[in-house]
Amino acid sequence: MSSISAVGASALLLTASIVQAQTPPGSQPSTNHALAVKYNGNLTLTPNALLPQPLLASAPAVSLNQTLNGTHMLMLVDLAIPQSSINGTGSEFYPGLVPCRTTRLHWLQSGLTQSANGTFVSDTAAIADYGQPHPGLNDIAHTYTFYLFSQPANFTLPSWDAGRVFNPISVSARMNFSVSAVADVVGAPLAANYMRVLNPNTTAPGTFLNGTCPTGAPNSTVTPYTGAAIQLQGMASAVVVVLSLVVFALL
Ligand SMILES: *[C@@H]1O[C@H](CO)[C@@H](O)[C@H](O)[C@H]1NC(C)=O
Ligand SMILES: *[C@@H]1O[C@H](CO)[C@@H](O)[C@H](O)[C@H]1NC(C)=O
Ligand SMILES: *[C@@H]1O[C@H](CO)[C@@H](O)[C@H](O)[C@H]1NC(C)=O
Ligand SMILES: *[C@@H]1O[C@H](CO)[C@@H](O)[C@H](O)[C@H]1NC(C)=O
Ligand SMILES: *[C@@H]1O[C@H](CO)[C@@H](O)[C@H](O)[C@H]1NC(C)=O
Ligand SMILES: *[C@@H]1O[C@H](CO)[C@@H](O)[C@H](O)[C@H]1NC(C)=O
Ligand SMILES: *[C@@H]1O[C@H](CO)[C@@H](O)[C@H](O)[C@H]1NC(C)=O
Ligand SMILES: *[C@@H]1O[C@H](CO)[C@@H](O)[C@H](O)[C@H]1NC(C)=O
Ligand SMILES: *[C@@H]1O[C@H](CO)[C@@H](O)[C@H](O)[C@H]1NC(C)=O
Ligand SMILES: *[C@@H]1O[C@H](CO)[C@@H](O)[C@H](O)[C@H]1NC(C)=O
Repeated sequence: MSSISAVGASALLLTASIVQAQTPPGSQPSTNHALAVKYNGNLTLTPNALLPQPLLASAPAVSLNQTLNGTHMLMLVDLAIPQSSINGTGSEFYPGLVPCRTTRLHWLQSGLTQSANGTFVSDTAAIADYGQPHPGLNDIAHTYTFYLFSQPANFTLPSWDAGRVFNPISVSARMNFSVSAVADVVGAPLAANYMRVLNPNTTAPGTFLNGTCPTGAPNSTVTPYTGAAIQLQGMASAVVVVLSLVVFALL
């Protein structure tokens, strides 16, 4: 079981700042609301930063500039998995950021609620335990996006993602995950952030042989999310801290 517990959160009232896109350009779903992500208590993510892979072994603390009532869920998704990494049975791939790439779910924690001191807690096990980014040797930097969503009381994973078992973290069922399908059900992400990660032993980024798109699986195109954006209200700080330690991860 993975537990999320709270640590100190500021009671200061803050205003959400919309400075720049908080999701990778061209990707869907998108948001301009910043999710604060901090690894090891001292490594704070700025959007699109290239972070050192060895420092990402443990799940980060995730905080937000506002108080959100209700229940929430957090997802971390790699948007740059070579399609050739998958021996899928189907012909359709959820599109990644560039042609011939798809996605992989790295973390899915549901049941997050805000505690009295402003932090989010969850006593439910992660649907997908946190998996350390681990892109291939000499591959391009992979782009990993954190999404915070509202979680309706009756939420179940949409059909694209449903029926999969996401643990242990090495399972291939994590590939070809659709975040847009989730947004279609629960609305746009309330906040997001994203990072890039290279394999630490890479000497020549992008020289990795990506393979070809599998036969019958032409490059996918992104289906734009057309739902209404959710407006954020009632600002205060909150911090999500995930206590589970994860040592192993794939991709
Ligand atoms: C905030 O609340 C959570 C849940 O009650 C608790 O685990 C945590 O220790 C609290 N943090 C602080 C700084 O009081
Ligand atoms: C939170 O709000 C403050 C004040 O507007 C701003 O300086 C800070 O950058 C915001 N942090 C995030 C993660 O949005
Ligand atoms: C950040 O925290 C980690 C884990 O406690 C520690 O190993 C590392 O040296 C710290 N880095 C800095 C720059 O303080
Ligand atoms: C896909 O299947 C082929 C044939 O069994 C195998 O050689 C290859 O290693 C597999 N690739 C992956 C990524 O599992
Ligand atoms: C990707 O997921 C969709 C929805 O679950 C499925 O229809 C498709 O076959 C999958 N693609 C591969 C290559 O497994
Ligand atoms: C969940 O509840 C909402 C509001 O009642 C409803 O619109 C939606 O269709 C329900 N979703 C599912 C999957 O039952
Ligand atoms: C990088 O290389 C070192 C030495 O061979 C190895 O121990 C380590 O696991 C490699 N890191 C990754 C992420 O593959
Ligand atoms: C692998 O894919 C990336 C992204 O599409 C590309 O930049 C790179 O050149 C490819 N590597 C090779 C060896 O073709
Ligand atoms: C898919 O994208 C790759 C890289 O851009 C390109 O070489 C290839 O022709 C494309 N395949 C199809 C079927 O469009
Ligand atoms: C959250 O709930 C409190 C107490 O019911 C209420 O006063 C506040 O307006 C709500 N905030 C939002 C953003 O819904």
